[in-house]
Amino acid sequence: MLGEIGLIGLGVMGKNIGLNIAEKGTNIKAFNNSSKKLEAVQKEFDGNFSGYTTLEELVENMDRPRNLLLMIPSGEPTSKLINQLSNLLDENDVVIDGGNSFYQESIHHGENLSKKNIKFIGMGVSGGEEGARYGPAIMVGSNNNLDGDLIELLSSISAKAPHDCVGFYEGSGSGHFIKMVHNGIEYAEMQLIAESYHLLKRTGFNNLQIADFFSSLKKINQSSYLIEITSEILRKKDGEYFTVDLIKSLANNKGTGRLTIETSFELGVSAPSIYSAYDARVQSNTDYFWKTSSTSRIQDNKDNLDDSEKLSLQTALAKSLYFGRVASMIQGLTIIERYNEVNKFSFNFEDIFKNWSGGCIIRSEMLDEFIEINNSSDKLLHSSQLHDLLKKNLKNIKEIVSSSILKNISLPVFSTSLSWYLNLSADDNPSNLIQAQRDFFGSHTVQLLNSDEYIHIDWREDE
Ligand code: 6PG
Repeated sequence: MLGEIGLIGLGVMGKNIGLNIAEKGTNIKAFNNSSKKLEAVQKEFDGNFSGYTTLEELVENMDRPRNLLLMIPSGEPTSKLINQLSNLLDENDVVIDGGNSFYQESIHHGENLSKKNIKFIGMGVSGGEEGARYGPAIMVGSNNNLDGDLIELLSSISAKAPHDCVGFYEGSGSGHFIKMVHNGIEYAEMQLIAESYHLLKRTGFNNLQIADFFSSLKKINQSSYLIEITSEILRKKDGEYFTVDLIKSLANNKGTGRLTIETSFELGVSAPSIYSAYDARVQSNTDYFWKTSSTSRIQDNKDNLDDSEKLSLQTALAKSLYFGRVASMIQGLTIIERYNEVNKFSFNFEDIFKNWSGGCIIRSEMLDEFIEINNSSDKLLHSSQLHDLLKKNLKNIKEIVSSSILKNISLPVFSTSLSWYLNLSADDNPSNLIQAQRDFFGSHTVQLLNSDEYIHIDWREDE
């Protein structure tokens, strides 16, 4: 096991991952420019903690080769710190960025540090505060050969499912890339759950009944960490009120969903369930006249469902939720597959599923099904078994989406996931007309059936 690690960043994630590391027997040498902060944090560690108020002091007091873990905000603060460290560290020292950095920045950091023969790891960490403390999912990306003791430490602090939920990927940006796509899938799943809650609420279910619906998914092996916490959230009361009813319907984000979307555009991959989930957050902060004016607002067509109708709604919704989750996972995996192809990496989906099967926010039983299908097919994303997971729930999602629209209930990610599937499984699509329109107004050329040649058509020759 690694003897010591330098820790920079003592916020919620940094401190908790530090406690997790210290518990495994590795000494923490931490930097913070406030000695008061260092003293306060030191009390939470069981002896194996030393604090330094300058980076120089931290670096001087570490044995070589040094391993430094950065748990600080991504973007400018991370870049600035890596730059400072690059002037203090020696060859073969290791900088580990454990923040939520954009993968392109991690590639850049890896390149810059390699010029000085300093090793770099871009490390995605998922699981929030509790995960950091007791076992996160860790996505490690590096171009360097990593020391066995460091690998052992990272594995030991990760979640157990029961295997270590740590993944090692080639490329300085790849750990953060896998984490970014994880977050894109996280957005879609969160929104699907929120839409399920919305539909049930609008059709007369109360919070406890909705919580029971989510809890019941465990019995059919279709639960997930996010579904479980939703059930808990819905049961929480504040005096006579349910806490969830006291929260404004405005969703924010720190940008990883947007970055997943931008990346999918760059890679030319379609991931509409993720776009739609991000857009739902944006829409929650948007006010048009027809939202703010009570006379223009569309009212619900409320149905009073009887018990048997309630039961069949729940059955169809459970299957639709599963459809939406499978669709979002497939879209996320397609982004990874394309990244793999473009960079000529050889990531293995099984490693990623195992990496995500404990500690992270999208951990769920569904990953086991994906592992099973992956093991029994040559190409997971083109396998008939994966298609079956969608096809067997198609009737239900059609019912849910169409009946909700008639009730004036908007379910953006359910609808988008359904349209995505229908479009991709249809005999044709209307893009022949798009080609014609582009060629008509801009001479952008078209490809005729049975030919790869691009030609321009004189659309008005008969006039
Ligand atoms: C995780 C989460 C986490 C994420 C925050 C906020 O895997 O632990 O994905 O990394 O950054 O939950 O994300 P948004 O603000 O983008 O929703």
